[in-house]
Amino acid sequence: MRKDIFPEGFLWGVATSAQQVEGGAREDGRGESIWDRFAAIPGKIADGSHPGIACDHYHLWREDIELMRHLGLGAYRFSISWPRVLPQGRGFANLAGLDFYDALVDGLLEAGIRPFPTLYHWDLPQALQDRGGWSDRDTAAAFAHYAAVVAGRLGDRVKCWTTHNEPWCAATLGHEEGHHAPGHRDPAEALRVAHHLLLSHGWAAEVIRREVADAEVGIVLIHSPVHAATDCAADRDAARWFDGFFNRWYLDPVFRGSYPADAVADRVARGHLAGPEMPFVAAGDLAAISQPLDFLGLNYYSRVVMRADADGRPAAVPPAPAGELTDMGWEVYPRGLQESLLRIHRDYAPRKIYITENGAAYDDPAGAAGRIADTRRIDYLRAHLQAAHGALAQGVPLAGYFLWSLLDNFEWGYGYGMRFGLFAVDPQTRQRMPKDSAHWYRDVVAANAVDEATSPPSRGESRASDA
Ligand code: FCB
Repeated sequence: MRKDIFPEGFLWGVATSAQQVEGGAREDGRGESIWDRFAAIPGKIADGSHPGIACDHYHLWREDIELMRHLGLGAYRFSISWPRVLPQGRGFANLAGLDFYDALVDGLLEAGIRPFPTLYHWDLPQALQDRGGWSDRDTAAAFAHYAAVVAGRLGDRVKCWTTHNEPWCAATLGHEEGHHAPGHRDPAEALRVAHHLLLSHGWAAEVIRREVADAEVGIVLIHSPVHAATDCAADRDAARWFDGFFNRWYLDPVFRGSYPADAVADRVARGHLAGPEMPFVAAGDLAAISQPLDFLGLNYYSRVVMRADADGRPAAVPPAPAGELTDMGWEVYPRGLQESLLRIHRDYAPRKIYITENGAAYDDPAGAAGRIADTRRIDYLRAHLQAAHGALAQGVPLAGYFLWSLLDNFEWGYGYGMRFGLFAVDPQTRQRMPKDSAHWYRDVVAANAVDEATSPPSRGESRASDA
């Protein structure tokens, strides 16, 4: 039987984000976020829900630390809510908000779990949005101030810092496609936003290093390998286009200090930029953005397949047969994780990589005895961990894995209908209920290894393959 053993010290964790789990939206002086505002607009959230209470992690965090302790985790990736700390986005800090994270950090450390915060997981203070949000360069300066406030308070205990989560989503889904807050549909604005997000990353990284001795600083990017549907030149060019738009637009500035010329030319051709100069890029910006990082956080869920449509325009090919899709409609493609890790290692050579998110949405109702037999999630996770191990074996400096997510939570525009958690959350009582995957992950962490035999029997069947 195959058994993939991870290196000693490999960091096992789970990930969540403030807007998706905390709730407590109006408590203790927290300000409004753009997601509070966006979710209140009818039709924006598929199930009509709102993140006002979410998983109530704001009150149940001690219990959640217990769950993590039970799983044997070494780290917890969470995000800090900017409007909880700075209700107006800038100016005076809300001490009650800082106290919350202070207590959370202490609780984690007492449980032997390393706090691994992200400063921005999409919940901009609405007060800043009212002044232009991320399309205004001042928001990057406000972010650096916010970083200083948080690092100043937590930096004596927190050493691993992540600035942004998936700036592609914040820029493109929020400002180009309109599916995420603040719901704009303006490609030119999205490019400005992307730049200010990256710039604020660079400035915040400098601030964290100044405030925190021995800080490890990184950024979290989503990455998907992009494959051409066929080998014809037009399909290959469609794949190149999407790779530039989605992956390289962020990787290149962060690791090379420049935007990818071919992707810039694509944007000029579409009229999203007047020319290749990009007036919002000021002298010194790219140097700040590309300062050396201690690690890259990689979020991986699936791959993308592209072709050229009848008019020669790039189009995504609908993925795989239904049986190979998660509830999000994302293809289960574990090999893409290994491919992503190898590509990033080869082309950008970060000092260290953490997989900062990986997981799958499946809805598995509780059975008679309350058991949630989420066999498909276990299969997804196992295959992806094997792929991660394959990358390690090929020399990728992979230092840890954070599973998305600890809890079923508020999945942005989908609301609570997409369930990624190791634990289900009762919508009324907020009681946490372990799924089979929670038991399985606990075994993986304890063994520091993944193998074919760690899965519990599914739905009461005996495992003939074990015999
Ligand atoms: C990622 C987000 C995370 C969650 C997962 C499913 O893109 O960072 O908040 O929504 O997808």
